[in-house]
Amino acid sequence: MADLTTDFLGIKSPNPFWLASAPPTDKEYNVRRAFEAGWGGVVWKTLGAEGPPVVNVNGPRYGVIHGADRRVLGLNNIELITDRDLETNLEEITRVKKDWPDRALIVSIMVPCEEAAWKDILPRVEATGADGIELNFGCPHGMSERGMGSAVGQVPEYIEMVTRWCKQYYSKPVIVKLTPNITDIRKPAEAARKGGADAVSLINTINSIVSVDLDTMSPHPSIDGKGTHGGYCGPAVKPIALSMVSEIARAPATHGMPISGIGGVTTWRDAAEFITMGCGNVQVCTAAMTYGFKVVQEMIAGLSRWMDEKGHESIADFMGAAVPNTTDWQYLNLNYIAKAKIDQDACISCGRCYAACEDTSHQAIAMSEDRTFSVIDEECVACNLCVEVCPVENCISMVPMEAGTTDPRTGKVVQDDYANWTTHPNNPGAVAAE
Ligand SMILES: Cc1cc2nc3c(=O)[nH]c(=O)nc-3n(C[C@H](O)[C@H](O)[C@H](O)COP(=O)(O)O)c2cc1C
Repeated sequence: MADLTTDFLGIKSPNPFWLASAPPTDKEYNVRRAFEAGWGGVVWKTLGAEGPPVVNVNGPRYGVIHGADRRVLGLNNIELITDRDLETNLEEITRVKKDWPDRALIVSIMVPCEEAAWKDILPRVEATGADGIELNFGCPHGMSERGMGSAVGQVPEYIEMVTRWCKQYYSKPVIVKLTPNITDIRKPAEAARKGGADAVSLINTINSIVSVDLDTMSPHPSIDGKGTHGGYCGPAVKPIALSMVSEIARAPATHGMPISGIGGVTTWRDAAEFITMGCGNVQVCTAAMTYGFKVVQEMIAGLSRWMDEKGHESIADFMGAAVPNTTDWQYLNLNYIAKAKIDQDACISCGRCYAACEDTSHQAIAMSEDRTFSVIDEECVACNLCVEVCPVENCISMVPMEAGTTDPRTGKVVQDDYANWTTHPNNPGAVAAE
């Protein structure tokens, strides 16, 4: 049986699935039930400084983009950090950690960008016995207007400064949670490392307005006729998160820095993908909010079955395995040539591939009078659009041409140096793999 245990910054957990800081981790009742369901760790809902309580809106807080089957594809929220009293949270964290010593318990914090505020809260958090802290430099709404959250995460100098304070006033691991609402994710990650961070976690939510009510002319969710941008998460953001993670994993300034992957993790496969891109574990929010805590059991079972099938004995066996294969465009092998192929037995003659290719691409699909569709190799550039719009999975596939054969489109002989190309000395991915 595959070993799913992880050791992230010395923090051990029975599996790589942690709940991200959000409503599922807002209180003792939730976290206990999450641990009972099997979650390997949690990042407690973000705590703020002592003082007047945070006040949330009392209207709808969420908006969703649904798929055709009403599955949640993207979730938008306008919630703030915890609106529960600091002392109550700290007492609950202390109790839960004591009762669940084998699970990871990280405390997320967001206080004003002043040394005194961090100096005040950090010893109190340390006294709970929690395993580490996560600095919330990511929330894009409500708190950022008050100079916190993404307002800090967008300024590398602030990230470095606050991280340094945390390393000074707190003895356990410090994880810096990054905002994706920035042009180049490598800069804040680099700043976190310079400030002494033990790891980065990403992504927090993306600025978003999910829809506008065309009767009231208010963005949704609407509070008494007015709306505001919120933070977007869920399956829709996974590609953005994965790309940002890959940037940090590949960049020389942050290469090797531990990463906790967040953003749209819904299945074991999503988690495995983040791990291959260099993450030591993953954090989940929307999937738990959509399907409940027990969704982790499917994640554990699926990951463990896949690892057994592939012969991976531990998470470390495949961690980072996709990083050397992630490169810049100019290092892609231009000697590689594929052509689309339609499986006539699977084809339902819907004509989607034809419409897409004929109207918008390369006119590389022919339609006969009896609606048989076939690929014209002389025109096909292997763009993959037909594969993606075809409603039947695996009906159309991309078949690589063999070395020595001639591409009927370009007249170019396919060269037998695929392998040489990908290990080209100018390809940093290949160099890292060696
Ligand atoms: C309702 C809601 C509240 C959230 N609150 C916080 C928070 O307090 N602190 C934080 O760091 N992230 C917060 N997040 C962001 C999540 O921790 C996570 O980064 C994001 O949802 C992406 O993960 P997902 O796609 O699995 O949901 C919140 C997300 C949601 C949906």
